[in-house]
Amino acid sequence: MQLFSFPILTATAAILATFGLSSAAVDPQGWYQAHPGLAKIGKVDQSLHQITDSFGRVRFFHGTNVVKKEAPWFRPFEFKPGDSFGEQDVKNLQQLGVNAVRLGHHWAGSEPVRGSYNQTFLDIMKKQTKLAEDHGIYVLVDVHQDVFAPQLCGHGVPEWFVKPDWVTSWKRFPVPQKLKPFSVDSKGIPSASDCNSIDWSLSYLTISVANAFGRLYNNNDNLGDAFSSYWKQLAQQYSQTPNILGYNLLNEPWVGDHYADPTLLTPGVADHKTMEGLWNRAATQIRTVDPDTLIWFEGSTYDILSGFNNVPLGDGSRTVHSFHYYKPPQLGSLDTTLTNRQKDNVRLKTAGVLTEFTFWMGNQQQMDDLQTAVTTADSHMMSWFGWAYENLYNGSSGDFHPELAKHYSRAYPAAVSGTPTAFAFNAADSSFSLSFTVKKAVDNAPTELILPKPTYPNGYNVTVDPADSLVQFVVDDRTLALFTADATQDGQKIKVTIQKK
Ligand SMILES: *[C@@H]1O[C@H](CO)[C@@H](O)[C@H](O)[C@H]1NC(C)=O
Ligand SMILES: *[C@@H]1O[C@H](CO)[C@@H](O)[C@H](O)[C@H]1NC(C)=O
Ligand SMILES: *[C@@H]1O[C@H](CO)[C@@H](O)[C@H](O)[C@H]1NC(C)=O
Repeated sequence: MQLFSFPILTATAAILATFGLSSAAVDPQGWYQAHPGLAKIGKVDQSLHQITDSFGRVRFFHGTNVVKKEAPWFRPFEFKPGDSFGEQDVKNLQQLGVNAVRLGHHWAGSEPVRGSYNQTFLDIMKKQTKLAEDHGIYVLVDVHQDVFAPQLCGHGVPEWFVKPDWVTSWKRFPVPQKLKPFSVDSKGIPSASDCNSIDWSLSYLTISVANAFGRLYNNNDNLGDAFSSYWKQLAQQYSQTPNILGYNLLNEPWVGDHYADPTLLTPGVADHKTMEGLWNRAATQIRTVDPDTLIWFEGSTYDILSGFNNVPLGDGSRTVHSFHYYKPPQLGSLDTTLTNRQKDNVRLKTAGVLTEFTFWMGNQQQMDDLQTAVTTADSHMMSWFGWAYENLYNGSSGDFHPELAKHYSRAYPAAVSGTPTAFAFNAADSSFSLSFTVKKAVDNAPTELILPKPTYPNGYNVTVDPADSLVQFVVDDRTLALFTADATQDGQKIKVTIQKK
């Protein structure tokens, strides 16, 4: 492995040595020895609408999604490009500069028998979370689903959730997507070939899927309580884990039973009419065992503006609005969506993060759109998670698709000791800049830039304006720390520029 050379750092060290600064001077190495490991995530700053950590620094995340959508509901540890999540996977992600993973924690894997949790499965998820922690990666615990249940050709909830007699026989799945119900096995599950014959995304419009979501939201047969108890179980597993970024309550929730209440199809209505009650119910259970961890909530996938009356339990300093961008169901540009989500942040007094968007190989238009998306996210100072990790690999060779790897390897500020005002990465020449106003963090924790090695193979030059306002320190081969110098006052405006060597 080729080592970086950092003439500027050497110069800084020489100056410090020459002038023999007092013991009060910034001591980067000592600081990192005194503060090992990942900083715990703190609250949401409700005026900046950004996530902060326990040092009070504003935090940004570039992440990916790791979700196994079939039994055993986790990816194996042994490296298999595109289907594993173990040591080699987290090493690869660390090298690329990724600092967060939205990790699927399937209810189907956790509670195979109602009321009885599978600790073997939960321990596997915890082990993968720990591997991520050991490689500088935060984990967003995500209860994932798409079209809900195996009886509905989907996945997410356990097999015991859906009862065959919920819907009159001739209206059963996938009526009216198909005119006749599929034949099913003894568990009520259709064949794979029948499931493959329909477009899953349109299955949300079926009577049976609407009915099942309605029963979850209405707490029919205490199913909303069962969902909430599962969340309490997860929170018990993770309340003391340092690298937990949050609890993502439910992926892409459907609006509810729109046959019983067609108004739910109006964008924004389901958010407050059906989902908000369940999010409160689950959040209440989480808070009995975990007072702090951020609760991430989603609304209907085709919202324009969010329709929630309030965030779960009403305290936006402890929540994050988790939203996706695909077109469809979103209609306008990502820029428009992010502008609308910022309006949601202001109204709901919380933060928002883009937790899924198109991040796989496609035609030239799609690749151009991906380039535009990551640039647009920077201009909104928006954290993101691409969909999805497995698409990063070109077949079984273990090689990355360069077109995807380069976007994961963008420079960004993982932590800012102050108020960020702008940051931008220029993919053409790999230059990066960050502007912020100093507000010294607890224990003078540093600003941290992620400058991934694939993007800066020969290192980088750092320019700080004003020149002596920050003290530089290379933490590892992707992280540059910038400590606020002793003489630098709160309110000082600083611009940092990175040039590729
Ligand atoms: C619990 O999870 C493990 C790991 O996936 C699996 O091998 C085992 O069969 C599960 N137990 C039950 C009762 O489903
Ligand atoms: C995937 O790898 C193969 C074999 O190395 C190569 O020919 C092909 O161009 C690669 N495809 C992409 C999209 O990178
Ligand atoms: C980086 O700094 C070195 C001196 O340390 C200088 O020779 C070089 O031209 C600089 N490169 C860029 C791209 O600014």
